[in-house]
Amino acid sequence: APAGLTPHPQAAEIASMSWDALREAVSGCRACPLCESRRQTVFGAGHPQAHWMLVGEAPGEQEDLRGEPFVGKAGQLLDNMLRAVGLGRGEASPEQQVCIANVLKCRPPGNRNPGPEEVLRCEPFLMRQVELVRPKLILAMGRFAVQSLLGSTEPIGRLRGRMHEYHGVPLVVTYHPAYLLRNPLDKARSWEDLCLAGEVYR
Ligand code: URA
Repeated sequence: APAGLTPHPQAAEIASMSWDALREAVSGCRACPLCESRRQTVFGAGHPQAHWMLVGEAPGEQEDLRGEPFVGKAGQLLDNMLRAVGLGRGEASPEQQVCIANVLKCRPPGNRNPGPEEVLRCEPFLMRQVELVRPKLILAMGRFAVQSLLGSTEPIGRLRGRMHEYHGVPLVVTYHPAYLLRNPLDKARSWEDLCLAGEVYR
C-alpha cells in the first residue's frame, strides 16, 4: 500500500468470500469514513455469470438512494448505449447481460472524487467481484476504474482504442458515461470502444 495508507482490515477474508458473503460484507462495511455519510452501500447489479463486466467509479445521489449502480442520468446513457449493441441488465441470458460494479461501494459526499484511502480500502471488494464473475471482457469506464484495474494514471484518451488485460481478462478502457454527458462529442469515441469490446468478445 502507498505510504501512510492502510488496507481494508479484512482484506484477506474478502479475497476468498462467496458472492453472498461478499454482498453482506459490503453492506456492513465500516472500513472508511464514507460509511458515516452513505444512505446505503451499492454492491453492483446484473447477473454474476454475465460475460461483460462494467466498472464505474462510485455511487452518486440516485444510486445512494436506490442501492443500485448507474440509475441516474449517466446510467440512462449507459443503458441506451448497451441496448444499442444488444446488451442490458436483467435480460434473459448471461450472454446478453452485463454485470456492473463500481470502485467505491459508498457515495462520496457531494459526488466528489474518491480519495486514495477510500479506494484502497474498498478495492478488495471489486477484486473479488471480478474473480467471482470471471468475465470474458471488462469495460473500465473512467479514470478511477482504470487506476484500480490497470494501475495506470494515463489519461483515458491515451489508453482507449487498444486492448489491455486485468488478471488475464481482456480489458477495454472507455470514458465514464457522466463525462460523456458533459462532453457529448466524445460519444463517437466511446462507440468505437464498445465496438472494440464487441470484437474481443461477443
Ligand atoms: N457513476 C458511477 O461511476 N457509478 C454509478 O453507479 C453511478 C454513477
